[in-house]
Amino acid sequence: MLLADILFLPEEAAHDAEIEEINAEAFGPGRFARAAYRIREGGPHERALSFIAMHDGHVVASVRLTRVAAGEGLGLLLGPLAVRPSYKNQGIGKKLVRIALEAARKAGWGVVVLVGDEPYYGPLGFSRIPLGQITMPRPVDPNRLLAVELEEGALSRMCGMMVHAGASAPVVA
Ligand SMILES: CC(C)(COP(=O)(O)OP(=O)(O)OC[C@H]1O[C@@H](n2cnc3c(N)ncnc32)[C@H](O)[C@@H]1OP(=O)(O)O)[C@@H](O)C(=O)NCCC(=O)NCCS
Repeated sequence: MLLADILFLPEEAAHDAEIEEINAEAFGPGRFARAAYRIREGGPHERALSFIAMHDGHVVASVRLTRVAAGEGLGLLLGPLAVRPSYKNQGIGKKLVRIALEAARKAGWGVVVLVGDEPYYGPLGFSRIPLGQITMPRPVDPNRLLAVELEEGALSRMCGMMVHAGASAPVVA
């Protein structure tokens, strides 16, 4: 399999079942307890800013972006990002992240945040959010709270508890 054989496409509702399978396989039942999942429960993801990788008519990887708020600041939460085990280490995950970031930038978003491994996301432009600036509804390792600014200063407007931007009230853990 070559990266050239993979189609990168905007996510559609028809992909939902396969995406759910991929996320279940990648993260297991523990995914429901994660801080980012708790935020995503607050409302829908941004379908237009979420992407899949397809091979032979099947979804093999997915990345989603969700609209979030913290204090005065708005941003996008990246995740879940997951790749089918037999498709790992071929550049699919990083390409999906780059496509999603470019779509977010074109749509006028200023910052994308996530909970993840800095060694993986650092080369994609992400770095640690200053300690204590953003609080999550469940405990996270602060070293894994990362952001990339698409517009200078956008991260500094985000502070305090991160919630789904569609949620009318702060998320209570
Ligand atoms: C993490 C994940 C999305 C990476 O996708 P992928 O398509 O295999 O990754 P890519 O091919 O783009 O990149 C592979 C490179 O990243 C490295 N890498 C993979 N996971 C890593 C991690 N957690 N930390 C640091 N580096 C990592 C690989 O070793 C490889 O390095 P190399 O290029 O030097 O060989 C995929 O392994 C996956 O679905 N994992 C389970 C779910 C998960 O952990 N998602 C991320 C949640 S934040």
